Amino acid sequence: MKRAVYPGSFDPITNGHIDIIKRASKLFDELIVAVLVNPAKTPLFTVEERMELIKKSLNNIPNVKVDNFDGLLAHYVSKVKADVIVRGLRAVSDFETEFQMALMNKRLNPDVEIVFLMTSYEYSYLSSGVVKEVVRLGGNVSGLVPECVETKLLEKVGRR
Ligand code: PNS
Repeated sequence: MKRAVYPGSFDPITNGHIDIIKRASKLFDELIVAVLVNPAKTPLFTVEERMELIKKSLNNIPNVKVDNFDGLLAHYVSKVKADVIVRGLRAVSDFETEFQMALMNKRLNPDVEIVFLMTSYEYSYLSSGVVKEVVRLGGNVSGLVPECVETKLLEKVGRR
């Protein structure tokens, strides 16, 4: 049984993340979408809200679970007995950070493999950060995030 972890901040989940989750879920027996609880950052959404939005957006893909973790990803991956970490790669600019994280995670947990999926072309410019900024400044993000996320974003920034 191959179990993979797809970690991230997911603040909030975008259609780019969903594309990676759907594609990764076909490659592994089980995929755990793991939301980082990072006390050093102030996310727009609480971890509970982020997990709820992920669950609603995925609409019950049978082999996908949603969880959260704090501390080191390498330790979490051992704890849940996963073999693989999945990450999405967009532009070349993602590569340096991802390369550094991959090597550190491999050093901390030599049993884990890190697998990168190239983003689908239509989501290559998309990030949670850009989506939040566009919403804050009055722009339209429909088609870039699931409807439930768009609604919550508009509520959070006081536009609905
Ligand atoms: O969605 P993001 O913000 O790009 O995800 C980054 C994430 C959560 C994968 C990364 O920050 C992470 O794994 N944090 C946990 C702490 C950790 O393990 N740090 C060492 C990795 S080099």
